[in-house]
Amino acid sequence: MTSARDVRPFRDLEALSAAAADEIVAIARESVAARGRFTLALAGGNTPRRTYELLATRHRDAIDWSRTNIVFGDERFVPADDQRSNYRMAREALLSRVPIPHERVHAVPTDTATVDAAAAAYDTTLTPLVRDGIDLVLLGVGPDGHTASLFPGSPALEEQTRLAVAVAAPTAVQPAVPRVTTTLPFLNGARCAMFLIAGADKRPVIGEILSGEDTARRYPAAMVSSRERTIWMIDQSAMPAGRSDT
Ligand code: 6PG
Repeated sequence: MTSARDVRPFRDLEALSAAAADEIVAIARESVAARGRFTLALAGGNTPRRTYELLATRHRDAIDWSRTNIVFGDERFVPADDQRSNYRMAREALLSRVPIPHERVHAVPTDTATVDAAAAAYDTTLTPLVRDGIDLVLLGVGPDGHTASLFPGSPALEEQTRLAVAVAAPTAVQPAVPRVTTTLPFLNGARCAMFLIAGADKRPVIGEILSGEDTARRYPAAMVSSRERTIWMIDQSAMPAGRSDT
């Protein structure tokens, strides 16, 4: 089962973040009402930071954190307190500021001997959570069309069964460190996916992906289609010419 792309333009990152936080709260409440829990995969990079801050402040009491599970769509293979760590960004902007039980936060282990060991451990961590259902995956898009740490041409794109795999350090984008990434079976098995996209460097690739041509072979972000909803939230600077803002 897949879902059509629901494209939503915003005038700037602040408007996008406010709308994204509202939507996350709505999905969290629906999930808890329907199934008694909410499982959210966080995105890395910089764009989601403001959304996370809004969840931790404006919406802190609107989400039942005691029934929320947090996982990560990808992680850089760096220590958890490194400036480049996606976990660190999420902890600072969100997780340390809300009453979420420690055992419900499932970070990628980056203190393992190798990135392969980290990926294998994370695959094991994700398995029961996926069995119970991932409600929402947050994602970004890189200027090369990558999403999570699925880069164009990567063998990780062929993965059919594992939920998380190791990838070599990318050459086209920073930071150039090995990664653990969730795979297309994980992303496309989720109920909803929501892309948060901001910045003029994304405009060319977003233009191609939204052009209607078959770009799914070239751009990993275009391969994501979750079971119920696939939402693309895009700020004005990343929006191709000819598309209006809100
Ligand atoms: C990572 C990511 C990556 C990111 C995009 C967009 O760990 O690097 O998860 O897929 O979401 O590169 O990043 P920005 O939001 O910083 O542009």
